[in-house]
Amino acid sequence: MPESTHSQPGTRTTTDLHARVYDGVLDMMPSEENPTPLVRLNALTPPGSTLYAKLEWMNPFGSVKDRAAWAMIRDLESRGELGDAKPGRGIVEPTSGNTGFSLAAIASVRGYPARAVMPSKVPTEKRALIRMAGADVDISSDAMCPLPGSEDGTIGLARTYARAQSNKYVMPNQYENQINARAHEETTGPEIWRQTQGKVSHVFVSLGTCGTVTGISRYLKSKNANVKIIAVQPSPGHDVPGLRNVSELDVSKLYDPSLIDEILQIDFNLAYTNALSLLRREGLRAGPSSGLIFEGARIISARDGVPMGVMIFCDDIFKYVSTMIKHLPELGGSDAEGGS
Ligand SMILES: Cc1ncc(COP(=O)(O)O)c(C=O)c1O
Repeated sequence: MPESTHSQPGTRTTTDLHARVYDGVLDMMPSEENPTPLVRLNALTPPGSTLYAKLEWMNPFGSVKDRAAWAMIRDLESRGELGDAKPGRGIVEPTSGNTGFSLAAIASVRGYPARAVMPSKVPTEKRALIRMAGADVDISSDAMCPLPGSEDGTIGLARTYARAQSNKYVMPNQYENQINARAHEETTGPEIWRQTQGKVSHVFVSLGTCGTVTGISRYLKSKNANVKIIAVQPSPGHDVPGLRNVSELDVSKLYDPSLIDEILQIDFNLAYTNALSLLRREGLRAGPSSGLIFEGARIISARDGVPMGVMIFCDDIFKYVSTMIKHLPELGGSDAEGGS
C-alpha cells in the first residue's frame, strides 16, 4: 500500500485510498485525496444547467460537521487542551445535533468524555444518536437553533459547563472558532476545485455556523474570483435543524457577507418536500437542509443557467424520519400511531 501524504500523529500511516482500505475510522476523514463524492442530478436539474450534489453524509459520522469537529479536536490536542496533558478532560459543545454527534464519536475514539447541549426541538433521533455515541446530552430552553444570551440557552449552558468545570470540559465553540471555517478552506474547497477540474461556476450552501460557506468561498474565490457563492436561508419560523435565517446569524462569528454573492430565502416547507423528491427522483437520501439548498440551485439554474453547480448536501434523511412524518403525515402510513 502506498505511503499516505497525511502526517497526523496516530492517524493515517499506510492507507490505500483507492481501494478504500483504512487503518482506522479517523483515516476516513475527507481531504483532497479522499473527497466526499460528487453526484450529478439527472432528473431534477432544469434544462441547460449542470448540478452536482456533494454527499457529505458519506463522511465517517454522517455529516458535513465531521470536518469542523475533527479539525477543532486536532487543534485542541495540539495545544495541550485534551489528552495526556489534561487527563480526563473532555468536550462540551452547543449543537443542533450534527456537530455533537461528530464530536461525541471522535471523542469516544480518542478516549475523551463529551457533553452536548441541544435545543429542545431537535429531532429525537439526533439526541439518541449522540447518547449512543457515548456523550451526555442536556436539553436547553432554546426551541430550534442554539441561541446566545440566557444562561439556560444552549450556548449559555455549554459555556457555564466550560467555565465552572474547566478541569472537566473545554468548549470548541463552532460558532466562533476560526478552525471551523479553516477546515472547509483546507478540505471542502480544494476537493470541489479538483473534482470539477476548476470548472465550478456556482456553489450552493446553507447557513448555520457559516463555517462551510466562509471556508469554501475563501478557497474557491482565491482560485477564481468569478465563482458564485449562493446561500439559502429558510423562511422565518422554520424548523430545519442546523440552519439559520439571516436574522438569527448574530451568534455566528464566522458569517462574512462579503464572501457570499446572493442569499435566497426559501419557504422552509420545501426543505421537506424537496428531500422527498431527491430520494424518489434521484435516489439521493438527502436531509431537509439539502432539500432547501436544492431549491436555491433550481431557482438560479432556471433564472441564470448554471454551467457547473455544486450543492453541499450536509447530511441524510435517516435522522429526520420523525420530522418528515410530522410534515408529511402520509409517510407514517396506517401504522403512524404505532399499530402492528
Ligand atoms: C444539517 C445541516 N445543514 C447545514 C448546516 C450548516 O453548516 P455550517 O454550520 O457550516 O454553516 C448544519 C450545521 O449544523 C447542519 O447541521
